Amino acid sequence: MIRLGVNIDHVATLREVRRAKYPSITDAAALCELAGAHGITVHLREDRRHIQDADVYALREMLTVNLNLEMANNPDVVALALDLLPAEVCMVPERREELTTEGGLDVAGHLAELKPVVGELSAAGMEVSMFIDPDLAQVEASAAIGAPCVELHTGAYAQWSGAARERELQRLIAAAHRASSIGLKVNAGHGLTLENVGAILALPKLNTLNIGHSIVCHAVFVGLEQAVRAMLELLASDRDSAQQR
Ligand code: PXP
Repeated sequence: MIRLGVNIDHVATLREVRRAKYPSITDAAALCELAGAHGITVHLREDRRHIQDADVYALREMLTVNLNLEMANNPDVVALALDLLPAEVCMVPERREELTTEGGLDVAGHLAELKPVVGELSAAGMEVSMFIDPDLAQVEASAAIGAPCVELHTGAYAQWSGAARERELQRLIAAAHRASSIGLKVNAGHGLTLENVGAILALPKLNTLNIGHSIVCHAVFVGLEQAVRAMLELLASDRDSAQQR
């Protein structure tokens, strides 16, 4: 069975946009677990634009499923991961100006910097994954630095349509095939939705899909009516009690 890791960064985005105390990241994670999610994924960005340090420690404390920490190769975040000890870490590229992770990590171009970090995180017991474009050279570079796992970037597949999407799907299939044939675990994610995830299920030996944005967006629509009704009920009951006074 393909596992689902739910990325709940955008729950923290909603909180941070008001610097409020809610919505609670741990309540959101608990609901994902209750629904059957196999893991919870969060990206602790260098600029802390959504997930905060306290969030990852709170999640580590309460989760019964795996916590997957997405992180750049930044010494402060690596030190935090070594203290936090999540079950999984996924190394991603990070640029402050970007809205979301754009493109995969250039593992082949940074072998010397990445290898010791992967070794250190693995030695501490974390399963380390490289978030890479579906490129055979990047798959092989990930194996060469000792990463046991890759997460294939499905963003281009998700964004494109027609022949371009089909070509990207074939690249994803080839990358998944190569990764699994050299003993790497294969995860994938980015931009996946109920509408586009179907073809991704054809990736050979797919282990986990990490999906965030579309699930949080969908949650707005499956929950909005209920949220408005709850407020209206409260307003109606308040008016009744006010009139009785
Ligand atoms: N995997 C990685 C490595 C990511 O950086 C992200 C986005 O934070 C995702 C998966 C999930 O992407 P989306 O939010 O588009 O589903």
